[in-house]
Amino acid sequence: MTELPDALRAALDAALARVPEARLAASVQRLMTAYRSGGALTAPALASAADVAAYAAYRMPATFAAVRAALQQATEAVPGWVPRTLCDVAGGTGAASWAAVAALPSLRSVTVLDQVGDALTFGRDLARASPDAALRDATWQRWRAGTEVPAADLVTISYLLGELSPTQQATVLGAAIAAGGAVAVVEPGTPDGYRRVLAARAALIEHGLAVVAPCPHQLACPLDGRDWCHFAARVPRSALHRRLKDAQLGWEDEKFAVVVALPGPAPTVPGRVLRHPRYRKGVVALELCTPAGTAAPVLVSKREGERYRAARDTGWGDTWPPA
Ligand SMILES: C[S@@+](CC[C@H](N)C(=O)[O-])C[C@H]1O[C@@H](n2cnc3c(N)ncnc32)[C@H](O)[C@@H]1O
Repeated sequence: MTELPDALRAALDAALARVPEARLAASVQRLMTAYRSGGALTAPALASAADVAAYAAYRMPATFAAVRAALQQATEAVPGWVPRTLCDVAGGTGAASWAAVAALPSLRSVTVLDQVGDALTFGRDLARASPDAALRDATWQRWRAGTEVPAADLVTISYLLGELSPTQQATVLGAAIAAGGAVAVVEPGTPDGYRRVLAARAALIEHGLAVVAPCPHQLACPLDGRDWCHFAARVPRSALHRRLKDAQLGWEDEKFAVVVALPGPAPTVPGRVLRHPRYRKGVVALELCTPAGTAAPVLVSKREGERYRAARDTGWGDTWPPA
């Protein structure tokens, strides 16, 4: 379960307490409908301060968890990676920036870009509560897709591409690549989100970046055409979150698709587990993406002792074999 950092949870609760719950609920329902309808948006979805608060209430926990998990995959693949500057493109209320400073303590400066001034204001107020100086002192700047992205060691683009036309998606990605550092793209873990991530992955490789997560190779995705690569992060739901979404469970699984690419040579990384392992009597079956660019099941039998115990502790999204 990935919890929001305590400082963010407290700041978010305090900010949400200032907005009538009925207004939040109405905005959540409208936003959920807008996002579910898919396709490029013709007007900003976050059309008011209440929409911004509603978005923060129902999406920041999930976005934080997904980006945190995505960046963790990257830091495990490249332990010596020490980015110092972050640019969070279309960062909205800053969930990806909170995730980045949590995953990457080397970050010293954060810039959040977005078209919606109310989102930047809301995010800046939350960030002031962060114990991390880079986030507390972040720059929050109006920005439109199609314009430049400032130089940064890491550019995050989370849950943006689905709101843009294919041409805009390519333009934003080009601007992120031109920023000169690593690029992390996170999208919903749907077939469409995966397809957008696949296009981003192709562009990143074409521009000479090395994919470090989730793929253990630079070859074509072996799932293309028969499945979609995605992962899941379990997120607790607060009582308010449950009421706003009209949900019963105390948690939700945020499914996400991701690619993270760094300048420089491709690291040697182990395979990646592509779905929940299956357990049969005395056997663990791991569906793996392998460094050879194949997707293949690996069966680990109880007779293999230590290796079997390691397989039982391995989950969806982990690497295999363990270090
Ligand atoms: C679904 S939200 C994601 C926000 C944030 N990245 C996160 O993961 O929590 C999409 C964000 O993209 C911004 N956005 C959408 N289209 C944009 C555009 N054409 N130019 C700049 N920002 C845009 C929206 O204002 C919104 O904040």
